[in-house]
Amino acid sequence: MAEYGNLTLEVQDRIAVLSVNRPDKLNALNEQTIRELGQAMHEIAGRDDVGGVILTGVGDKAFVAGADIAELAKMGPVDGVLVSRLGQEVFRRIELSRKPVLAAVNGFALGGGCELALACHLRIASENAQFGLPEVKLGIIPGYGGTLRLPRIVGKGRALELMLTAQFIKADEAYRIGLANKVVPQAELMDTARKMMGVMLANGPIAVGLAIECATRGMEMSVDDGLALESNLFGLLAATDDMKEGMRAFLEKRKAEFRGR
Ligand code: COA
Repeated sequence: MAEYGNLTLEVQDRIAVLSVNRPDKLNALNEQTIRELGQAMHEIAGRDDVGGVILTGVGDKAFVAGADIAELAKMGPVDGVLVSRLGQEVFRRIELSRKPVLAAVNGFALGGGCELALACHLRIASENAQFGLPEVKLGIIPGYGGTLRLPRIVGKGRALELMLTAQFIKADEAYRIGLANKVVPQAELMDTARKMMGVMLANGPIAVGLAIECATRGMEMSVDDGLALESNLFGLLAATDDMKEGMRAFLEKRKAEFRGR
């Protein structure tokens, strides 16, 4: 297991809890933290003892308050492209993870932090969470995929409202517009996240991974191409032991024992 300077990674009951650990900077994402997130997702993808990931921030104030503005302030146009590309690549790795990634948003999710939550498959927010894309206040735009992902999740009108006003919204509003899947008191956040992840991990893991792939890539393709992808992956699942086990278990009125084969 790798050692991370700005992250913590703990695994229990097949659930990895990956926490951004820079609480004195409200977990702002500097370059090192983004690189470590990429390494951690790579590690998690290869670990047989991990079925899914809960991504959160250390402390009770912030999930991630954005990209590290102290670092961004030094960039010029050439490294600006590179900074954006690095974040995009790492967040894309999260979005395309075959293991479900659930953001437990425990406070501010701003700028790059909101984009990080958007790259996750599901978002549970604590009641004190706030979401926002305040980049235009700094004279930039969201550069880690937020301009594409937010409209896909909440619709273009609401996405542009958040991007152009730079205003923050609270957890209940995030839930109302479909940005958060659930809102819970902060003390219940991690238990709720674990329970929800446990429900997903009881299902066929190959099927869960391919559902993520179809929903994600499907939205980026023509309907015809997306439907072709769906039917091909549907057919692929018919070749798995897990499909046989899932259907046999239903017919035998018992719980399925999936092996991911
Ligand atoms: N980048 C770098 N440092 C950050 C940061 C960020 N995105 N967000 C917070 N911090 C740092 C602050 O500079 C401060 O550090 P310091 O104690 O060394 O001065 C520390 O985290 C605590 O933040 P502070 O601003 O004092 O807390 P607050 O409760 O008064 O305000 C926020 C909280 C989230 C409203 C405020 O920190 C903020 O607006 N952050 C930037 C949000 C943003 O624009 N994100 C998008 C970046 S692209």
